Amino acid sequence: MRFENRLVLSAMAGINNAEFCKWQKASLVILGGFNADEKAMEAAERVANRGRKEFIFEDPLEGIEKEIRTLGRKKFAINVRSATMEGYLEAANIAESYGGIFEINAHCRQPELVSVGCGEWLLFNHERLLEIVTAVSKIVTTFVKIRGGRGIDYETLSDKIFSAGANAIHVDAMIPKGGCDFDLIARISKYGFVIGNNSFVDIRSGEKMIEAGAKMVSAARAVLKDNKFFNRMLKSKILSQPVEL
Ligand SMILES: Cc1cc2nc3c(=O)[nH]c(=O)nc-3n(C[C@H](O)[C@H](O)[C@H](O)COP(=O)(O)O)c2cc1C
Repeated sequence: MRFENRLVLSAMAGINNAEFCKWQKASLVILGGFNADEKAMEAAERVANRGRKEFIFEDPLEGIEKEIRTLGRKKFAINVRSATMEGYLEAANIAESYGGIFEINAHCRQPELVSVGCGEWLLFNHERLLEIVTAVSKIVTTFVKIRGGRGIDYETLSDKIFSAGANAIHVDAMIPKGGCDFDLIARISKYGFVIGNNSFVDIRSGEKMIEAGAKMVSAARAVLKDNKFFNRMLKSKILSQPVEL
């Protein structure tokens, strides 16, 4: 799979719908985070009830498919949380049927979602995460979104994620006190295709992630601040280069 530039729009629950993603100049846009089954959706409703944005659909899978259809043909991934294997598999089949990529969310730290086995829970339950990666990657091109700064052995985990069949790891290389852990990006990039994320706010910070070993770089908050963020980043020779997954 070829990407026209190194730029990725990172998932933002309640924000990254087709309408928001459509206009972004990143070669890959990540729709969602979406909730693929009822348990995850109920947890997301509890999150929304305390004021955070979430995508709440009456029928989770129908809602996901509608966003994909509205987006049209642009290269896309869907970022997905699910409390059940069935949820992952059904959503993976939908992504595949539209030529998309599936991103397993092992990142979200909202307690309501973690308590039903979604998001960051998977970072601490590797067997389950690897079981999901193995099953999903048989269906569709698979990314795993992980979060740094959680004191786990990221190298061993990354090795296992790639060995289980994932095509890429998307790492939010957050440092708990703020900023991006370029060393973490360098360490896990030894194992496979990595998308670097966190505090990509200008050309220099994006190029630094590529220099550390990431093949692509993603942004979320910078796009909220400036809807034309990716247009500006494309002025970089490095960030505007195509790349093959
Ligand atoms: C409002 C908001 C919602 C987010 N929702 C999700 C999500 O649903 N799934 C996910 O994997 N990451 C989510 N993230 C995390 C971002 O994708 C990204 O990893 C994080 O913000 C760090 O990157 P940044 O410094 O470019 O913002 C969210 C971030 C924001 C600001």
